[in-house]
Amino acid sequence: MEFTDLEKLIKTRRSIRAWQDKEVPEKLLMQAIELATWAPNAGNQQNWHFYIVQNKETIKALTDAVQASADRITSWPEAKKFGDAATTWKQKVGFFGTAPAIIAVTASQYQSIADRLLAARGESDPQARQTREWRNSADSRIQSVSSAIAYLLLILHQMGLGAVWMTGPMQAKGELEKILKVSSGKDLIALIPVGYPAEKPASKDHKPVEEVTEVIH
Ligand SMILES: Cc1cc2nc3c(=O)[nH]c(=O)nc-3n(C[C@H](O)[C@H](O)[C@H](O)COP(=O)(O)O)c2cc1C
Repeated sequence: MEFTDLEKLIKTRRSIRAWQDKEVPEKLLMQAIELATWAPNAGNQQNWHFYIVQNKETIKALTDAVQASADRITSWPEAKKFGDAATTWKQKVGFFGTAPAIIAVTASQYQSIADRLLAARGESDPQARQTREWRNSADSRIQSVSSAIAYLLLILHQMGLGAVWMTGPMQAKGELEKILKVSSGKDLIALIPVGYPAEKPASKDHKPVEEVTEVIH
């Protein structure tokens, strides 16, 4: 693969939020997930798990759970302070229910040897506490699964599919996990609605590399 091919793939991927009314072959989604699981991950724990949902009733149940949560939040008196923004958010929150497929992604809980050592040291040692906080702020469990999700979005794009990485629905995490029958020890971290795109969003502004990079001498 030429560098320019990779560059084109990366730069033409966009978050897709509107889909054609056309089913996605399950085999294609399995193939995409298989390839995504070659992503780098902490301690080679491969602590991800994927759920492919294509059943319309289950997709509706997921959407209803998120909508109910948004309805509850926007019914609070505090929502008045946010005016139209709260109403618009509530109206749009369930858009992912129009996708023909949803890939739900979980991150399994695990502890590295460093985590276990620090836990064993307990609360009394301030240095151990600080080290734990530093490690937690760079949560390798979530970073590992995120790396697979980033791969997955590119792979789906290469397949001619359109998807969007969504953490917003996690506001209804408890209900979503019940619907998907997520086993204990796993945390749902994202929903990825996917299908054949029915929109072609324009490319977005990007911060110049010089702005986001410092060369340390
Ligand atoms: C961690 C994460 C969470 C996101 N959550 C949502 C979401 O809940 N709803 C949504 O519509 N888009 C969500 N997005 C998509 C972003 O809005 C999108 O990636 C960003 O605006 C850049 O646009 P692009 O993907 O088209 O380049 C999320 C993206 C990431 C990486």
